[in-house]
Amino acid sequence: MNKRELYTNLLPLVDGLLTDQQQPVSIYANIAALLKEQLPYASWVGFYLFNGTALYLGPFQGKVACVDITLNRGVCGQAGRTKQTVIVNDVHAFPGHIACDAGSQSEIVVPLVHQDKLIAVLDLDSYQLASFDVVDQEFLEIIAKKIIAKIIPLSSLT
Ligand code: SME
Repeated sequence: MNKRELYTNLLPLVDGLLTDQQQPVSIYANIAALLKEQLPYASWVGFYLFNGTALYLGPFQGKVACVDITLNRGVCGQAGRTKQTVIVNDVHAFPGHIACDAGSQSEIVVPLVHQDKLIAVLDLDSYQLASFDVVDQEFLEIIAKKIIAKIIPLSSLT
């Protein structure tokens, strides 16, 4: 199965999770689990949530990870600061990359944004070089938008 097929199969599963769950933390947790299960090249999948100042570790699947990331640090910080997806083919060549797992070789970070405000970032790592490309970007950005569309109305209820 190629990547496009993988993601095409995965999108209805994302929709199913978003239908059932009513708490943002549960949504983040199950989306991380789904992506880790379905994308064989992902070694770590998780969310860093923005508290208005910095990113902090949210629900994830994979090895223990660093907890706090300021927006001037790392791949996550760059994605959060610019509110643009960042694809890194070789993390060792990325100045300021934060190595949570020494085995990680490549990475993609997709921001979750609502009305130009940063809400969180979705971070995927891989043990292979150059695992992530524009197909991952296209579909992970769709998934990020679906999560935001579900979570923002929930947040305003509390
Ligand atoms: N490598 C990331 C830090 C998070 S871990 O990959 C889970 C970064 O440079 O922002």
